Amino acid sequence: MKHFHSIEEYKNGLAEILITEEQIEEAVTKAAKYIDDLYDGSPILLVSILKGSVLFLSDICKKVTVPCELGFMRTRSYFDSTSPVCSVSITMDLDYDISGYHVVIIEDIVDTGNTINEVLKMLRVRGPRSLRVVTLLDKPSRRVIDLNADLSLFTIPDRFVVGYGLDFDEYYRTLPYIAVLNTEII
Ligand code: IMP
Repeated sequence: MKHFHSIEEYKNGLAEILITEEQIEEAVTKAAKYIDDLYDGSPILLVSILKGSVLFLSDICKKVTVPCELGFMRTRSYFDSTSPVCSVSITMDLDYDISGYHVVIIEDIVDTGNTINEVLKMLRVRGPRSLRVVTLLDKPSRRVIDLNADLSLFTIPDRFVVGYGLDFDEYYRTLPYIAVLNTEII
């Protein structure tokens, strides 16, 4: 676990800003409009996979104008060095019967695609009215599973990013923008 001993050290851990607060705000508006357009009178459940998508979810839900509810899940990934596909288990499940809901999973990033693939498989069998994925970031060059979000706001290169929910050893989640991690310093 990394510990920063000064604010300078903490700041030096960031290389450059990749996505600004203003760009994020525009993306949030686009995501909220996408959710508004889904509404057909059936309830909508926005599902955040903790912890990475919490900031994105909280900003989106303030801009959604149709009735919607919030749900939270947590997952853990297990890597086996012999395979690029990892297994994912739920460590905290939704406290909802999702049948009858339009479910929209709000993700911070789709990287290899493992997490979202497994979450979709687990939720699909519970019979939601529909099941969609909105992701803030997409790293298609890292994908090991052929799967894309229904709405993806920013396509980014294969670099480790932090901020706006995304962390490095739990640090940097609270930044209001997305920055590239300075891998030389960390
Ligand atoms: P997956 O590889 O698509 O299953 O992504 C799993 C998780 O890895 C994401 O939900 C993120 O929490 C984390 N992750 C992937 N890329 C990054 C990154 O660049 N910065 C921070 N976390 C990341």
